[in-house]
Amino acid sequence: MEHAPRGQWKSKVGFIMAASGSAIGLGNIVFFSANAYRFGAGAFYIPYLIALFVMGVPVMMLELGLGHRARRGFPEAMYGVAGIKGEWVGWFCLLNAAVITMYYITILGGVLGMWIGAFGSLWQGHAVPAFGLAEGTLSNSMSYFFNMISRYDTIAYVVIVWFLNGLIVWWGTKSIEKSVKVFVPLMWIFMIVLIVRGLTLPHGTNGLMLLFTPDFEVMKNPVVWQGAFSQIFFTLSLGFGIMATYASYLPKDSDQTSNAFTISFLNCSFEYIAGLAIFSLLFCFAVVPNASTLSMTFFVIPEGLGAFPVGAQLFGILFYTLLLTAGLTSSVSLVEALGAGVIDKFGVGRRPTVIAICLLGLVGSTFFALPKVIDGSLANDGTLGLTLLDLFDHWAFSYGLLLCGLLECIFVGWILGADKLRESINTTSRIQLNRSFDVLIRFVIPAVILTILGFSVWSEVNSGGPYGWNFEFGAHPNLHIVVLAVWIIFTACGAMLLTAAGVYQRKRKRERGSLLDGVEG
Ligand code: TRP
Repeated sequence: MEHAPRGQWKSKVGFIMAASGSAIGLGNIVFFSANAYRFGAGAFYIPYLIALFVMGVPVMMLELGLGHRARRGFPEAMYGVAGIKGEWVGWFCLLNAAVITMYYITILGGVLGMWIGAFGSLWQGHAVPAFGLAEGTLSNSMSYFFNMISRYDTIAYVVIVWFLNGLIVWWGTKSIEKSVKVFVPLMWIFMIVLIVRGLTLPHGTNGLMLLFTPDFEVMKNPVVWQGAFSQIFFTLSLGFGIMATYASYLPKDSDQTSNAFTISFLNCSFEYIAGLAIFSLLFCFAVVPNASTLSMTFFVIPEGLGAFPVGAQLFGILFYTLLLTAGLTSSVSLVEALGAGVIDKFGVGRRPTVIAICLLGLVGSTFFALPKVIDGSLANDGTLGLTLLDLFDHWAFSYGLLLCGLLECIFVGWILGADKLRESINTTSRIQLNRSFDVLIRFVIPAVILTILGFSVWSEVNSGGPYGWNFEFGAHPNLHIVVLAVWIIFTACGAMLLTAAGVYQRKRKRERGSLLDGVEG
């Protein structure tokens, strides 16, 4: 079958904007600040920077180099590395990323709801009937948020966000490039406005002090290291097959080493200044961000903004617009990566592929938006949707992403040979990679990831999981185990199915080929 011509970025700037737009997302703005606070603020930067240079930048080079070399979707790029097994790994990474995207988009739907609220009702107190709470029991933003998640509105928001995703990838690189050229500069401008506002508030520099005061005691805790390494993977969009896909649309002579440095630098500087903005905003009003990542997004920050002497509403709208644009340029990158994988592999059209992915994704995101209240005491996340989100995040983020990174490094390092990839990267790069790249890919990174995964399993067994292994939900005892099973079936078995379909297609092609030979002969 003839493949339709593949997309190509019109300019290098377009590619850098798209790739950095993918990297800069909710992870940079809210998750980072919440993690940094949880893991000792100033102290978090040290493990974070180590993780960046030991693992982030080399894996970024690996993914960019791989996609650029193959000039195909991620599963086929991995097929080129290690045959059928490689192809399975490619699909596994994409499907695990799809799970993350499903709940990421539900969170973005919530952000859209907050954006709407920022025009008025977010700043007023409400009763929360679904949780049986009278007006005044919760803060304004909390009461708005819990009302939102206990109604079906969130599902409508999720539909809108998926629609926007479909629209942006509809014409492939062309439409992605156009939208990132608007969204990415906008993101930087909004962030700079927020920082200036934060730092010029009375006591606005208090948060900064905390951010620059390392507490070395915290660094003895392995959880901090685990947090830093997972954060680096997530924030740089690694282990998703995204960077490989975006690099596959680059011209043949482009320089992947410098691209890797540029993208990582842009992403981490954005993250860094976002930390400045958020910490200065919150500490100025003594709102302590002692919060999970979700509560940071949905009530800690709006509480800080609500306390602004002037312009709370304006800054609220600005902040949620920033989150929306940052989140959209991230989520579209996965829709494109998954789409490219299917289109390149099976030769199907772009339109039906995009529609199918968005519909499937919408089904998943809807589960995470289910408003059924299961915890009126608000001890956990309150609704079935958010509980599912938490549980899937536990597998797909804390284990899945690192597992994908591990498999990528082992397959490239040991089966293809890290030196082979390095030589291919070096032929078009100004900065030449030396053998330390091979050592990192073959030994250091796998060892680090294995240690973290081993530690995670160990603490899982000891602590009994996020809700305990016998967490009960109504008629479904052990929801935790059900979620684990669904995750494995969707990712591992789904990847097997897609790989098998690929094998079947190759066989058919060969048969048709030999049949034609016979006719012609
Ligand atoms: N890097 C993004 C962030 O920091 C996360 C991300 C990248 C992502 N690509 C994605 C999330 C695709 C969901 C889907 O927020």
